[in-house]
Amino acid sequence: MSNQKPNWLAEAEEVLIRYAKDFSPILVDRAQGSYIYDKDGKAILDFTSGQMCSIIGHNHPKVFAAMQESGEKAWHLLSTLLSEPVINLCKALAELTPKGLDKAILINTGSESNEVALRMAKLYTGGYEILGFLGSWHGMTAGAQAPTYSHTRRGYGPAAPGHHALPAPYAYRCPIQHCNNNCDRSCLRVGMDLVDRQSTGAPAAVIIEPVLSAAGIIDLPPGYMADLKKMCEERGYLLILDEAQTGLGRLGDWFGFERDGVTPDFLTLSKTLGGGLPLAATITSKAIEEECFERGFIYITSHVSDPLPAIVGLTVLEVIQQQQLVKHAAEQGAYLKAGLEALQAKHDCIGDVRGRGLLLGVEIVKDQESRAPAPDLGWRISQRCLELGLNMNIVRIPGMSGVFRIAPPLTVTKEELDLGLTIMDQAIQETLAN
Ligand SMILES: Cc1ncc(COP(=O)(O)O)c(C=O)c1O
Repeated sequence: MSNQKPNWLAEAEEVLIRYAKDFSPILVDRAQGSYIYDKDGKAILDFTSGQMCSIIGHNHPKVFAAMQESGEKAWHLLSTLLSEPVINLCKALAELTPKGLDKAILINTGSESNEVALRMAKLYTGGYEILGFLGSWHGMTAGAQAPTYSHTRRGYGPAAPGHHALPAPYAYRCPIQHCNNNCDRSCLRVGMDLVDRQSTGAPAAVIIEPVLSAAGIIDLPPGYMADLKKMCEERGYLLILDEAQTGLGRLGDWFGFERDGVTPDFLTLSKTLGGGLPLAATITSKAIEEECFERGFIYITSHVSDPLPAIVGLTVLEVIQQQQLVKHAAEQGAYLKAGLEALQAKHDCIGDVRGRGLLLGVEIVKDQESRAPAPDLGWRISQRCLELGLNMNIVRIPGMSGVFRIAPPLTVTKEELDLGLTIMDQAIQETLAN
């Protein structure tokens, strides 16, 4: 990719705060289905479904129609005023989830959905200690950021007291340098022991993702979540499951907790629920909600219970059901994973292929033998992919390998997956040759 900055980008940087290092050198004109299109009409296959949100493809016509309907009725109201779309979406979420996830609040972002869960957990338990995984990402607002152990902490002062980290079960690079590719959960036992010794005895919640995304697609091994839930119950922590990226079918199940038969105390949904529009939900049990209500729970924002995002959320659920996208994600995910494993057999720089359904990770290394991290190589491959018409997301956390996080929309076709695999193959070959 040319190092010459396009004029439009130089002009943009005069007026935009740069919030995530550099902007991509593509000026997007429109987005449809699995593709985004630049100003010259060039199609770019989007293997990140936007910021992992456009689960039914970009600009789905049914979502557009729902927004028009909302425009003809109401799109924003005073926080205490309800409308049918809000009530219907909360009903639909309660029906979709097991008993114990009975009541929901509708807000806008993933950060907010976790803020709500954390506030309720503190109010309900009377504690304030929160545990989160190393490498996790739960949002950028202060409460959600505090248990986010990513590269976003330095320079912003202390987080609220009472936050502790647990090592994530990163089997390819065991966090306690104990096992190799086969987590035996020693990391969980060691981590919990460390936390127990540091605790002031005021437990509130453990917040986790079923597959850690920003950490580099780390899938909790089968049974891990059930063990963790038991440990939470023994100690008095509530379990908050953040399914921002995994919820609503991406893993080939409606939710990530299904495989392990665990019902969390809080389920937070965001990115995928709005299908590209800002909608999030926090769902909990009747018992927790009632106790929090008695204690005066408050969470008022400008856009809580707005009808427009709610009608969009209902439409997203309807499309997932009508098009059987959960099953489709499982099938397409297996196909894509097999294709990525074939690339791994061909290219020594692919150290690991992991993940579930249509949330897959490809870890780029110097070579398979050494497993030495190669984030710059990963970055250069991603730039070549972009030139060839494939948009990829790569984690560039210092000290870690670059990991491609692949999350196409659940509507993706086999032909589109084949195209993405072909471009990746070519981009790897050409980058290594240069
Ligand atoms: C698992 C997870 N939770 C929460 C968030 C925060 O969501 P938002 O950016 O909508 O606040 C993200 C964002 O990347 C995420 O990946």
